[in-house]
Amino acid sequence: MQVKLGEKTAESQVLLSEEQIRVRVAALADEINQKYPHDETVLILIVLHGALIFASDLIRRLHMPTLIETVRLRSYVGTESTGNVQVLTELPAELSLHHVLVVEDIVDSGRSLSCLTAKLREFEPKSLAIATLLDKPEMHQTDIEPEFVGFSIGRNFVIGYGLDYNGSYRNLPYIAEVME
Ligand code: IMP
Ligand code: MG
Repeated sequence: MQVKLGEKTAESQVLLSEEQIRVRVAALADEINQKYPHDETVLILIVLHGALIFASDLIRRLHMPTLIETVRLRSYVGTESTGNVQVLTELPAELSLHHVLVVEDIVDSGRSLSCLTAKLREFEPKSLAIATLLDKPEMHQTDIEPEFVGFSIGRNFVIGYGLDYNGSYRNLPYIAEVME
């Protein structure tokens, strides 16, 4: 499929199909269910907007009591990480009372999560962990190591299943990579 990246057009191809995503998200939910006590509340902190679709599929498969909260970060312009991460929403005070599981779409440089987790640690939650659908280990520039990873992928920019290029393509039901 051809995708429009601002003025340019580029070729993209399917990297992860709907079925591959569905199977892996179910397995990831099982891993998460095993990690937490069945009777303790986990506050799920969804990083908007990218993790919205992943999180909605994931949390319906979790068995422990949950609270759902969202947070907005700003870090990216186009396909470049700006390295300048802002937390745009007020963080909920309940963070100090529960286990906190951050749900993210993708870890690239790791700067967004490094900044967010530093702020979350100030609340002294019972525990703090990260579940990310995608991880680009070759791109890391911080020591962020997510506890739960759906798929490790290469360096190419990806779109779909919540991931965007400047706001577009989040609605693709699969994940496509933009060819360099
Ligand atoms: P980081 O701070 O460099 O780890 O960037 C993380 C954020 O950048 C993610 O939460 C995404 O919103 C965005 N991002 C990084 N790589 C991609 C990509 O390949 N496609 C779409 N968004 C991406
Ligand atoms: Mg994101």
